[in-house]
Amino acid sequence: MLKKTVTAASAVLMCAAAVSGCGSDSSASDGNDQIVMGFSQVGAESGWRTANTESIKASAKAAGFELKFSDAQGKQENQIKAIRSFIQQKVDVIAFSPVVETGWDTVLQEAKRANIPVILTDRAVDTEDTSLYKTFLGSDFVLEGEKAGQWLVENAADADVDGDGDVNVVQLEGTTGAAPAIDRAEGFAEAIKTDSKIKVSASQTGDFTRDGGKQVMESFLNSEDGIDVVFAHNDDMGLGAIEAIEASGLEPGKDIKIITVDAVKDGMAALAKGQINFIVECNPLLGDQLMDLANKVLDGEEVPARVVTEETTFTPEQAAEVLADRKY
Ligand code: AHR
Repeated sequence: MLKKTVTAASAVLMCAAAVSGCGSDSSASDGNDQIVMGFSQVGAESGWRTANTESIKASAKAAGFELKFSDAQGKQENQIKAIRSFIQQKVDVIAFSPVVETGWDTVLQEAKRANIPVILTDRAVDTEDTSLYKTFLGSDFVLEGEKAGQWLVENAADADVDGDGDVNVVQLEGTTGAAPAIDRAEGFAEAIKTDSKIKVSASQTGDFTRDGGKQVMESFLNSEDGIDVVFAHNDDMGLGAIEAIEASGLEPGKDIKIITVDAVKDGMAALAKGQINFIVECNPLLGDQLMDLANKVLDGEEVPARVVTEETTFTPEQAAEVLADRKY
């Protein structure tokens, strides 16, 4: 599909060169030059998600796109409905962050048949047909899990809080079936393999929410003996775990070490206070790169199949240094 910002003259020339493709494909924004992007968001489950939504909206505005934004409230069926509606409205480009990895082929084939390019952002889909999307922009979640595990391996002596010779870890998983939950668990398990003292004794989903993290941590505190470490797949669940640990009379960060992923402001504040011990960053500010990729795809330019976000890690000291300037 051609980007709508082509000049009228070049559009005429292109039509002359490819007569059969012109005039047959009316779209949502016919009558003006604005590119229309349909974006299906996972929901509003976490601080990360809020920052991601704000970034997408602000960047779409700055790029002059008309954004049709749909919040799926954590449900795959809502995302499928939204994508079908974008197809019906003949948007120029569809972008979405899939709530879970599997079950997308049919709707993505519908978008392909309608000649609407699809860009995956934040999370991947599990499909053998990579022609169903143009590119995937987002973090390397396996690497994030590995970074969390490596820190634990390097700090294992300290993390054996009760001094019994084992590092007993409980894991608060993200949404079941979601790429970041699957990949972070995989990366973490791979990294801790190198130290037989470190074991994950319990692992359950807290659905990436603060409430979920709190409830699962309460049940772990009742069912598990000698918990040394919590690995939470995001800050929000780690913050929920802090509440549960404090309510049980223990001190988060000291009596139980906490490792999380994201580095949103609330998480970084808890890290700077020593309630969390280590955070692996996951950058939600994907808006500018997404609009840039959409422009390139609509211009017919080659884009890489995978664009990986650059990220770092934070100790309490590093969090204290950057907290005041943290954007999200
Ligand atoms: O897909 C990114 C993950 O989704 C973030 O780490 C988490 O906070 C969010 O809900």
